[in-house]
Amino acid sequence: MKFLSCAVSLGLTGLLFTAQSAAKILYAGVNSAGGEFAQQNLPGTFGIDYRFINESAIDFFLDEGVNTIRVTFLLERMCPLATGLGSTFNESYFSEFEKAVTYITSRGGYAILDAHNYMRYNDPSSQPSSGSIIGNTTDPLAATTAQLASFWTTLSTRFKTNPHVIFGLMNEPHDMPTELILANDQAMIDAIRTVGAQQLILVPGNGFTGAARWLNSTCAGCKPNAQVLTAIRDPLENLAFDMHLYFDNDTSGTHSECTLAAPSNLVPVTDWLRENNHTAFLSEFGAGDNPNCARTLNDTLAWMEEHGQFIGWTYWAAGPLWGDYFLSVEPGVGPEANRRQSQ
Ligand SMILES: *[C@@H]1O[C@H](CO)[C@@H](O)[C@H](O)[C@H]1NC(C)=O
Ligand SMILES: *[C@@H]1O[C@H](CO)[C@@H](O)[C@H](O)[C@H]1NC(C)=O
Ligand SMILES: *[C@@H]1O[C@H](CO)[C@@H](O)[C@H](O)[C@H]1NC(C)=O
Ligand SMILES: *[C@@H]1O[C@H](CO)[C@@H](O)[C@H](O)[C@H]1NC(C)=O
Ligand SMILES: *[C@@H]1O[C@H](CO)[C@@H](O)[C@H](O)[C@H]1NC(C)=O
Ligand SMILES: *[C@@H]1O[C@H](CO)[C@@H](O)[C@H](O)[C@H]1NC(C)=O
Ligand SMILES: *[C@@H]1O[C@H](CO)[C@@H](O)[C@H](O)[C@H]1NC(C)=O
Repeated sequence: MKFLSCAVSLGLTGLLFTAQSAAKILYAGVNSAGGEFAQQNLPGTFGIDYRFINESAIDFFLDEGVNTIRVTFLLERMCPLATGLGSTFNESYFSEFEKAVTYITSRGGYAILDAHNYMRYNDPSSQPSSGSIIGNTTDPLAATTAQLASFWTTLSTRFKTNPHVIFGLMNEPHDMPTELILANDQAMIDAIRTVGAQQLILVPGNGFTGAARWLNSTCAGCKPNAQVLTAIRDPLENLAFDMHLYFDNDTSGTHSECTLAAPSNLVPVTDWLRENNHTAFLSEFGAGDNPNCARTLNDTLAWMEEHGQFIGWTYWAAGPLWGDYFLSVEPGVGPEANRRQSQ
């Protein structure tokens, strides 16, 4: 549990209280990954291949003073391939997911519903690259933008009376036209607002929704998010851009060394947010267990606290099935957990 002990000793609780009075950081917490695990194995077995939360871990986090849990799920499990992306759910998988969400929100936490699909549907086996890009009209196997909207119509209808639910439209789109991301994002927002759901919506961009590259092109011929996503509209003006940030040399979050210049890598996007009257939510960031990373984390949390463009964050990651994963902060499991217990 390196992160929370570090964050608490660095004043996480203080950050939260300051934040609440200044109405800046409204949401802070962790991801609970696992609902999307073993993607190559559909539908998979609950508790073995995938699982959303460990309830006692949720208790631990909410008791520590954070208030938000991002809960990942897999579209191919929610909407089986046989019936396709849309309004027909696997009610068994849905009820397992709903139970996790309701557990969090009934304890007073916020739950982010995270469609962990990289803007792809039909073959998650080698995420993030496998599967047809949703809305790619030249791919006969691809789900359509309308099907994606229909999916969100159904999901948001089911949660629209729970004010502690936040809609995370799509995890980490990448390597596709940024204009198609805009079109898909807009269709999902419109679907959610049409059913009368009023909660906060987190809106992703291209390049794995990377905060450090928001103003840059992230694939051949792709326009920067900053150029395209200014066109996004929410009739309720209750959206934040969903952003991710890792500190290793290729921003992938797969190395334990923090080598990038943080938080200065947030300067361009922070300026862009301010100029365009938008806010952002850092729904993934993570760092290895070493002093340089601890300093980077602290400085990044402080940056978000000091810049009102950021309204929340969830650390990557807790989750019941991680085992020894180097970024795991699941209580009692994994290297960062063990370290805290030995302190
Ligand atoms: C629906 O999900 C359950 C797990 O909750 C699984 O056992 C079942 O096979 C799934 N059905 C389909 C059609 O994918
Ligand atoms: C869309 O689908 C076509 C046909 O499969 C494919 O050639 C093209 O690369 C896809 N577009 C993107 C952005 O991957
Ligand atoms: C983004 O583009 C700017 C201007 O071209 C460049 O200075 C910067 O290094 C780029 N940032 C990243 C993360 O690629
Ligand atoms: C990043 O660092 C790792 C060591 O942690 C190294 O193996 C890899 O080559 C580096 N990649 C880049 C792009 O510098
Ligand atoms: C900024 O956005 C808020 C709502 O998100 C709105 O009330 C306000 O008028 C906007 N200000 C400008 C200058 O566009
Ligand atoms: C944490 O960040 C704050 C604000 O930038 C700074 O004053 C403090 O020295 C940092 N602490 C550590 C341990 O890096
Ligand atoms: C849930 O967490 C508790 C406390 O750390 C642990 O004892 C239990 O084994 C966990 N359950 C599962 C299913 O991982």
